[in-house]
Amino acid sequence: MTDQGKINREGARPASLFERADATFGLGPVRTPPVPPVPEAVRPAPAPQPASQAPAALQPVAFAKPEPAAIPAAPQPEAPRAAAFGGPLVHIDRQHLRDGGLIVPEDPVTGLLEEFRIVKRELLADARAGASALARRILVCSPHPGEGKTYCATNLAIALAAERGLEVLLVDADVVKPSVALRLGIDVEQGLMDALADPAIRPESLVIRTDIEGLFVLPAGTATSLDAEYLASARTGEVLDRLTQGAPDRIVIFDTPPALAASPAAELAQHVGQALLVVRADETSRAALEDAQQLLSACGDIKLLLNAARYSPSGRRFGTYGTKGK
Ligand SMILES: Nc1ncnc2c1ncn2[C@@H]1O[C@H](COP(=O)(O)OP(=O)(O)OP(=O)(O)O)[C@@H](O)[C@H]1O
Ligand SMILES: [Mg+2]
Repeated sequence: MTDQGKINREGARPASLFERADATFGLGPVRTPPVPPVPEAVRPAPAPQPASQAPAALQPVAFAKPEPAAIPAAPQPEAPRAAAFGGPLVHIDRQHLRDGGLIVPEDPVTGLLEEFRIVKRELLADARAGASALARRILVCSPHPGEGKTYCATNLAIALAAERGLEVLLVDADVVKPSVALRLGIDVEQGLMDALADPAIRPESLVIRTDIEGLFVLPAGTATSLDAEYLASARTGEVLDRLTQGAPDRIVIFDTPPALAASPAAELAQHVGQALLVVRADETSRAALEDAQQLLSACGDIKLLLNAARYSPSGRRFGTYGTKGK
């Protein structure tokens, strides 16, 4: 049961999982912005016009300084084309998703989907506002086991894949306890760790294509005793660049092991532009959250995501998120 007093300590009803996480844990430097309704096609706001480009009627034409001659832009080198995903095409059993409490793309809209839609809008807006591929890489993490990282990462990936024209790559970066494939009900073999261990392997060839349009999966792959070293090596950056460069419509979501129990989340934090720190309002302690935040500090944009919370300040159920079967 969620500690509603904690959640509602400001006396206002937080509007989203982000806001509710902020209201509960409110860590200073962690970015937990309010979630405004973002239009379908989120585009970065146009830069403000400099005064010299204000409408002519507002300018003292006679005294206006002549505009410097426009310098022709140097030709930009072509961004390398994104590597197409070339792994096997698999069917995802929709009933398996349903049984696991996950979003089923073809099912009627549920409260769960609505919650993840709000979350994805926020992430997408930041992903599209970012100039580099980094902003389109999103780490999903939490301090401890069982706080809902895989659940949130998978649901988020399915929700994002519904965006027209978007390719969503869900990467299982938890090689000790890989569970993305299990959650999706698919059989997998090689994956991320194989691509990191063997430079001859093209990572895109290991990416599984699914029959959920826009959803792709890179399994965790083969575990070895050197996994931590592989993740810390320069090869990780190369692999991730290969998967994201030249693909402005590709979002990568990493499901990771608990930040306080294993190193992958902290390592990967250097390679992502956004990190979602999953918290359970009634279980995650503030100290654990601060430790996890510290470990992820290589990522400049850490957002808190409140999982499995029920909230009903006025008797009405606010968060159906986390209530299986709703
Ligand atoms: N909001 C939720 N509603 C319903 N069930 C949930 C929710 N969040 C998590 N669960 C369930 O709780 C269990 C643990 O979740 P999950 O496996 O996602 O945690 P995790 O943080 O990835 O754990 P680990 O650190 O062991 O990988 C799963 O059975 C999952 O389905
Ligand atoms: Mg997990």
